[in-house]
Amino acid sequence: MEADQGRQGGSSVDDESTATRRDAGTTESSRANRGWWDRNADDYQVEHGTFLGDDRFVWGPEGLDEVEAELLGPVEALAGKDVLEIGAGAAQCSRWLAAQGARPVALDLSHRQLQHAMRIDGGKVPLVEADAGALPFKDASFDLACSAYGALPFIADSVGVLREVRRVLRPGGRFVFSVTHPIRWAFPDEPGPEGLSVSGSYFDRTPYVEQDEEGRAVYVEHHRTVGDRVRDVVAGGFRLVDLVEPQWPAWNTQEWGGWSPLRGNLIPGTAIFVCERDADPAGGAGD
Ligand SMILES: C[S@@+](CC[C@H](N)C(=O)[O-])C[C@H]1O[C@@H](n2cnc3c(N)ncnc32)[C@H](O)[C@@H]1O
Repeated sequence: MEADQGRQGGSSVDDESTATRRDAGTTESSRANRGWWDRNADDYQVEHGTFLGDDRFVWGPEGLDEVEAELLGPVEALAGKDVLEIGAGAAQCSRWLAAQGARPVALDLSHRQLQHAMRIDGGKVPLVEADAGALPFKDASFDLACSAYGALPFIADSVGVLREVRRVLRPGGRFVFSVTHPIRWAFPDEPGPEGLSVSGSYFDRTPYVEQDEEGRAVYVEHHRTVGDRVRDVVAGGFRLVDLVEPQWPAWNTQEWGGWSPLRGNLIPGTAIFVCERDADPAGGAGD
């Protein structure tokens, strides 16, 4: 097994797979990640479920909580809003949204992740098993969309997903998504001092791939620079309203894979993009 240099997802390479950097397209990435999340959902929920909470909305390992951040807008304005959560995992964020009076739908590629959602609330939050690249909803179905490390770090065609999200949002709708901060790709994914020295090029967009003995991808992450992400947001039809880089708070002493208080005090670990679909001009057709 090669060194786990590129993975930003915070857990180790499967014993029987090898880590490399190579191209991986939409279909291969999606198939690999569905399998990986199905196999690893149980461990993920055991490892991170307490930190995530059953009904909290946490944007990333720093612990930035939507109740304080209000990136989707004022908490009191969420009531009655139709909200799509993409890459929802066990739907913790959706459950918090429902508690505020919103009408969330939690979408994920992984059947096993969604089974954890069912385990937690017995099916109170509507769940949809689908790929973020082909959202099974009519145009203009939602007021808001959100994604806490769901889908965007894992997909080859980021613009395609953004266009899909724009399509299902109503004019004036907001999409907020968090991803691994792009600067992290230049560093080893290690929580200790070894994670503080640049080990690769920030500009190398070659996907991080774990593959089996036959060379089939079993896990894929896609890297984009900050500039790439901004261009993707614009190409997807959104206006970038804010880019939030949460600072590591003093209260959080918990490591999450390569995210740690040590590194979090020195370099950003998460980037949160706040995007809006402009309201259509009066009388406009909507696209
Ligand atoms: C790091 S987890 C985040 C889950 C949840 N937001 C949380 O904070 O625990 C990433 C999630 O994205 C999902 N995912 C990965 N690729 C996806 C895709 N193409 N479409 C939809 N979901 C995807 C995975 O199945 C996984 O549940």
